[in-house]
Amino acid sequence: MRVAFLSASGRIGGAERALLDLMASLRAAEPRWQLHLVVLAAGPLADRARELGVTVHPLPLPAALERTGDAGGGSRVALLAKLLATAPAGAGWLRRLRTLLRQIEPAVVHTNGFKVHAAGALVVPPGARLVWHVHDFTGARLLMAGVLRHWAPRASAAIAVSHTVARDLRRVCGPGLPIHVVYNAVDLARFTPEGPRAELAPLAGMPPEPDGVVRVGLVATMGLWKGHRVFIEAISRLPAHLPLRAYVVGGSIYATTGSEVDADELRRLIAWHGLEGRVGITGFVDQPAHAMRALDVVVHASTRPEPFGLVIAEAMACGRAVVATAAGGAAEIVRDGVDALAVPPGDVDALAAAILRLVENPELRARLGAAGQAVAAERFDRARLAAEVAPIYRALAKGG
Ligand code: GLC
Repeated sequence: MRVAFLSASGRIGGAERALLDLMASLRAAEPRWQLHLVVLAAGPLADRARELGVTVHPLPLPAALERTGDAGGGSRVALLAKLLATAPAGAGWLRRLRTLLRQIEPAVVHTNGFKVHAAGALVVPPGARLVWHVHDFTGARLLMAGVLRHWAPRASAAIAVSHTVARDLRRVCGPGLPIHVVYNAVDLARFTPEGPRAELAPLAGMPPEPDGVVRVGLVATMGLWKGHRVFIEAISRLPAHLPLRAYVVGGSIYATTGSEVDADELRRLIAWHGLEGRVGITGFVDQPAHAMRALDVVVHASTRPEPFGLVIAEAMACGRAVVATAAGGAAEIVRDGVDALAVPPGDVDALAAAILRLVENPELRARLGAAGQAVAAERFDRARLAAEVAPIYRALAKGG
């Protein structure tokens, strides 16, 4: 079996970590399969894939196309105008992609993101089957929803990362597209309670935390809807004497214009609340497991329903107490009060109350952390990925 994976991003956010985990899981379960990755942008993804034994083909997108997307909103007309302006460069690039895929001769083309779902539909070689791996909600993104609806007949199947994502995709693409729900998983050998810890204080340019201080961190990409402001506002509402240090951990992932928060803006918000000694920004941390182990409480604060919320599963695997906004796929993962504390999206007071409870109560932190770890061991071991995805590829390759 030869599989060609397509990724628009070369940097590693949740969808790319999920892709690496899937490829690693397939390598372990199906060592004879040939895995190829076509990656459209520079970044660490290519090297990580090579380390797994995947053959990597860099095929950079023209810069203008790289910056175009509808994640940040904007009118449909403006987007279409942008797309038309970039069309000639896009056509040349698509020709190269088509040629490359013909050379690879895959049985399955597996696309990991909206841009490559569309590109895959345009160039999938005859004889290959197209699988869309959907990590995001489509319905809210008008342009992408239109594109996916239009090209759904070219896809043989879709993999959705949660039931909520599957329902959204079904609404957009109709009943013709077979959709399989495959929850993401994590590398349980890497995301463990014990192991190396990142030094967050120096990364954030702060003095070390005094003993007894509880470390609380929002771990997320800089996506606009990851709740950075809500997190900082929540910290600002906590009593000043509370022994707490908060960190914003994570960096920028996507090149799409207007889709990310600006770290300087967050710094201004921190300063405005007078929280400079209390809240730090670390920037991108290469090893999320190291960052999570350096925290006592991991916060997920997305203000929109989260398609899955890989960070939640990772923090559980590290045995950390988790606060999560329970909406979308994230609500399918957490059980409030059992393995995490759940709060409504965008609710600053609820988030502040949950953080306060955890800072004041080490037993609660320990209990949630242990329960989360057990859940991760049972539901989020990445060996499950190959077990669920390989049969989908096999059935398609046989003409199913
Ligand atoms: C995207 C989604 C996130 C999910 C990740 C992996 O980043 O926004 O919810 O965890 O993909 O599927």
